[in-house]
Formats: sequence, C-alpha cells, structure tokens
Amino acid sequence: MITGGAGFIGSHLVRRMVLRHPEYRIINFDALTYAGNLANLDDVCCRPNYVFVRGDICDMAVVRDTFDRYDIDGVIHLAAESHVDRSIDDPLIFARTNVMGTLTLLEVARRKWAGGSSGCRFHHVSTDEVFGALPAAGGAFDELTRYDPHSPYSASKASSDHFVRAFGDTYGMDTVVTNCTNNYGPYQFPEKLIPLFVNNIRHRRPLPVYGNGENVRDWLFVEDHVQALDKVFHEGRSGESYAIGGRCEVRNIDMVRMLVRLTDAMLGRPAGESESLIRFVTDRAGHDLRYAMDCSKIERELGWKPQTDIEQGLARTVKWYLDNTEWLDDVTSGRYAEYYEKMYGNR
Ligand code: NAD
Ligand code: DAU
Repeated sequence: MITGGAGFIGSHLVRRMVLRHPEYRIINFDALTYAGNLANLDDVCCRPNYVFVRGDICDMAVVRDTFDRYDIDGVIHLAAESHVDRSIDDPLIFARTNVMGTLTLLEVARRKWAGGSSGCRFHHVSTDEVFGALPAAGGAFDELTRYDPHSPYSASKASSDHFVRAFGDTYGMDTVVTNCTNNYGPYQFPEKLIPLFVNNIRHRRPLPVYGNGENVRDWLFVEDHVQALDKVFHEGRSGESYAIGGRCEVRNIDMVRMLVRLTDAMLGRPAGESESLIRFVTDRAGHDLRYAMDCSKIERELGWKPQTDIEQGLARTVKWYLDNTEWLDDVTSGRYAEYYEKMYGNR
C-alpha cells in the first residue's frame, strides 16, 4: 500500500513500483484532497497490478477494510498535508492528517500484522524540516540531528516520526523512516516554489520571493528520491532512519533566476526578461534559513546517490510544465477534481 499515491512524490513512487515490481499488487490509498490528482497516474492506471482506493488515512474503518481486502503486507506512507504556508493558516488539519492519520495507519497495521508480521514493513516518508534550520554556512543534518521543528507542518511530521519509532520499539513492528530534502520535478502542485514560479512566468505574473531570498534549500530530483525509497523499503535496516538529499544547496533567489533563465529561453523570450517580475515580499513566518542533508549513511549502506544534476533536472522540469500547460491549467482552475468522477463514477 502506498498512501498519498495521487500526490507529487507518491505518483512517481506508484509509477516506479507498478512498472518495476510486477510481482506486487500496488494499492494506491489516497483521499484525493486538493493535492491529489489521478491524472498524475494516467499512464499506469490500467496496469493489472495497480489498484486505486479512495480513502482517508484518519478513517480507521476504511483503512482496516483495505488492509483486510488486499491483505496488505507493506506500507510506504506518504499521505500528508505537505505545504508549510497552509500549515501556518490552518494548523489543525496538519495535526489531524499527519499525526492522527499516521497513528491510525500504524494501529491498523499493528493489529493486522500481530503474530504474523514477518516480512511486513511500515516505511514512513518524512522531511528534513523536522530538524529545524541550519546557520547560513556550515553544517548539515543527518540521522542523529536533534529534532527541532519550527512550523506547524514540521511539528506534525516530527510527531508522526516519533509515533513510527515508538511502534517499532514498543510493539516490535518493522519500521523505517526516511527524511528527505526539497523535491522538484513534474506533477508538483503549483503552490510550491518551482511549479508556481514557472506558471507565473508563463502568465507574466509577479514572482513573490519571501524575505530577501537568501534562504537555502537542498534540492533533489523526485525520480532520485523514489529510487531511494524503493531501496530503503527493500534493503534498509529495520528501526533505522535514512537521511536523503540532493547535495545541492541553492539560495532561493538563485533558484528563481535559474527558473527565469530556463523558462524565458523555452518560451522564446529575451534572456532575463522575466527578472522584472521578481518581488521581494513579507517573509514566511518562522521561515527556516537553511536546509542541507548529509546523506552519507544511505550512500554507504545502500549504495544510493542522487543521479540528476540540478541544471539537467530543472531543464527537464521546466520543459515538462511548459509541455503540460493543460495539466497546470486543470490544477490551477480546480478542473482536475472532476477526473475522479469521470474515471470511477460516483463511488
Ligand atoms: P502532496 O501534497 O503533493 O501529496 C499528498 C497526497 O496525500 C495527496 O495525493 C493527497 O490527496 C493525499 N492525502 C492528503 N491527506 C490525506 C488523507 N487524510 N488520507 C489519504 N490521503 C491524503 O505531497 P508530496 O509533496 O508528494 O509529499 C509526500 C510526502 O513526502 C509527505 O509526507 C511529505 O511530508 C513528504 N516530503 C515531501 C517533500 C517535498 O519536497 N515535496 C520532501 C520531503 C518529504
Ligand atoms: O524540505 C522538504 C520540504 O520541502 C517538504 O517537507 C515540504 O513538504 C515541501 O513543501 C518543501 O517545503 P518548503 O517550504 O521548503 O517548499 P516551498 O516550495 O514552499 O518553498 C521553497 C522555498 O521558497 C522556501 O524557502 C520558501 C520560498 N518561497 C516559497 C513560495 C511558495 C518563496 O520565496 N515564495 C513562494 O511563493
């Protein structure tokens, strides 16, 4: 079972697992919130080893029924509220989904797997944001960094990480946790920096850079992330956590300039034309200054490394959004929500 499989990272993971692991039946369990879009999986939805279940991870009866019906013996859990700005506006939904939803899944898995849990694994997908913020220069997070979340989003993810570990320690469940840095790539909801800005450049709309643009993020191409998830799910040591990152620190303002350069070039506009759209706006509350990940452990133990360099990955990403303007327009207009009814009727 992959939870959140209709979202950004989840859809890349579902695609990979369906295509590369025909021996598995992949159950995509997703509530289809505003961030879930079945069109992300158009190319694999007819595969015989793919099943979609619309359900809320907080709804214990539906989760239990899905575990029973499909005899679930492995979970990769991505379903979450994932946008920091939304967590500042409405923290309660983050506690509900990210904390209670994770706990509900854990509790159903624990009961289902009790006694016969050998080979059953719960892999929780988390974020580097649980570790807080780094100073402007020097240092990186790793698996031993103290938890220090600053936003309601990261506090809810930190809490869910603790519950996952607690279920491993208390009930002997086979759990693993991965903490990853910022992902980028196709199918990301255009509220996040990269797709939002490409879409805004396309429409000649302002590019709102928070604060002075000096905040740093460590960027990883989403296909590299899901390759790491596949490795950790299959080969990671039980009870461990793995830090995943791109070893690619970029200041926001530099990222915005790269996006302007690539997007203008692909739209046939004069170089740098859209720099005039940049606006420095009020900073995000509690904005973490810098994230960076030391991913030596996964490199050493599992032989995983990020494959895609940022120039190549960003060029692919910008091109994908500009080639898929219908996807962007459906998502920004809300039309994508009709897709489920078209595909599955009113079930
Ligand atoms: P996303 O917002 O694109 O997708 C979230 C998915 O979860 C959506 O399909 C949504 O419908 C589903 N969902 C939300 N609430 C649900 C509920 N109650 N029940 C069932 N499904 C529900 O998120 P994303 O960016 O793909 O992130 C996926 C996971 O990876 C999250 O757990 C996030 O914390 C983590 N993560 C994301 C990044 C990143 O850069 N995007 C980095 C590190 C970790
Ligand atoms: O680090 C991993 C995290 O990365 C994930 O856990 C989150 O789910 C994911 O949303 C992402 O969080 P960020 O807050 O880093 O991503 P976002 O794209 O929202 O912002 C990236 C940076 O750009 C951040 O420093 C805030 C800034 N920003 C963002 C937006 C949307 C702007 O300056 N302007 C904007 O309009």
